[in-house]
Amino acid sequence: MKKIQISPSILSADFSKLGDDIKRLEDSGADMIHVDVMDGHFVPNLTIGPPVIKSLRKYTKLPFDVHLMIDPVHKYIKDYSDAGADIITFHPEATGNILQTIDLIKSLNKKVGISLNPDTEITAAEEHLDKVDLILIMSVYPGFGGQKFIKDVVKKIVKLNQIRADQKFRFKIEIDGGINFETSKIAVEAGVDILVSGTTIFKENNGDLKKNIQTLKQI
Ligand code: DX5
Ligand code: ZN
Repeated sequence: MKKIQISPSILSADFSKLGDDIKRLEDSGADMIHVDVMDGHFVPNLTIGPPVIKSLRKYTKLPFDVHLMIDPVHKYIKDYSDAGADIITFHPEATGNILQTIDLIKSLNKKVGISLNPDTEITAAEEHLDKVDLILIMSVYPGFGGQKFIKDVVKKIVKLNQIRADQKFRFKIEIDGGINFETSKIAVEAGVDILVSGTTIFKENNGDLKKNIQTLKQI
């Protein structure tokens, strides 16, 4: 039985008490914390940056799974590394040179992820699959929590999982967007290892974080 990891998205947390909510997520069994960074340019929303991440670092030992929805991205990588990111995931469209950005993240001793939007094919990352730790499959168009799961991405996960098996790659497959108690089953069956979820974890069962995280883990 594959061990599914849960990376709750703090986009759905209470931004007036992010530290407390991160502590609650850790106490509720989260495996890492998904930090959605948005710049109001790559996506039509604006969230948090390095100073906030730095201040949150002391609240948990859990890995910060930092999802950079920013463009340009390369020149800011070190700021997120210094702020305490453990996994740094970027969108290929936001860098002029994917390999250079991968190498920079690795030079900082951080794990590297590439995120594929629903309309971005695997070919955008295919030549780098041997170098990355994570492929983040977006099952919504990035920018907001609470959106509906785009089922079309399932065939992309199946294909990516097949490529991973055939080529014996070691990257993990993470999915992000519209993940609830039903869509998580579809994602895991298709080959996903890590589930990102914001709305379902923070809102279902009257916001019982432990119950929601444990339910997703047992999918
Ligand atoms: C969207 C973010 C996702 C989002 C997930 O741009 O990357 O991480 O917060 O939220 P839910 O789980 O509510 O779809
Ligand atoms: Zn995200």
